[in-house]
Amino acid sequence: MRKNIVAGNWKMNNDLPQTEALIDGLKSQTQTSNAEVMIAPTFTNLWHAFEELRQSKIEVIAQNMHFAENGAYTGEVSASMLKSVGIQTVILGHSERRAYFNETDQLLAKKVDAALANDMRVIFCFGEELADRKSGNEESVVENQIKNALFHLEGSAFKNIVLAYEPVWAIGTGETASPEQAQDMHAFIRKTLDSKYGSEVADNMTILYGGSVKPNNANEIFSKPDVDGGLIGGASLKAEDFFAIVNAF
Ligand code: 13P
Repeated sequence: MRKNIVAGNWKMNNDLPQTEALIDGLKSQTQTSNAEVMIAPTFTNLWHAFEELRQSKIEVIAQNMHFAENGAYTGEVSASMLKSVGIQTVILGHSERRAYFNETDQLLAKKVDAALANDMRVIFCFGEELADRKSGNEESVVENQIKNALFHLEGSAFKNIVLAYEPVWAIGTGETASPEQAQDMHAFIRKTLDSKYGSEVADNMTILYGGSVKPNNANEIFSKPDVDGGLIGGASLKAEDFFAIVNAF
């Protein structure tokens, strides 16, 4: 079912004391919207964050995982390891993973399969680079990212997938896609799903926007009919800013 979600991607920020302080800040905020709220701390702090937020409505999620169940993959973390510390949802395909760690659509298809096989929910990220948008290729880039990583799935698998459109040129730059640009792309994403899986999958898909969402622009972006929430980077590192965005719904 289509939901409103606001997820904070902390990226490689916050050691344990900083994680504790930010969680304390989050606990002191009041939620006035009915959006689902999630935070994604680093691997080392997942268990602590999960324990701290066990009684709250904030879900703790992971930023990444490996596709294998276990084995000789030094430095990696598997779905079952995440699940064993209470994590049910994982972000996959973030543009920083694609750019700095060479994650391809083919690799991401395997990660998606592994997460779903472990009954996890996936927040699948994709988005064009500035050069793609300048050359008018943003729709074909996004369409290919979705097709290559997800279109081998059955329609029923999509109930455990959330999509996150994050134009690379808007991440951490302070430059947001305009609400109209976000709406146009989200409508295109829904149309792409509809053409393969039909309207039930397309209409029920939760599609988040990510890229310089801040308290002062969240309301306008979230007011667009095909924008179901946000994946928040920088502004999720301050409890008040994050909850101002959560409450923008
Ligand atoms: P910013 O909100 O810092 O632009 O980051 C967006 C993002 O990458 C969320 O995953």
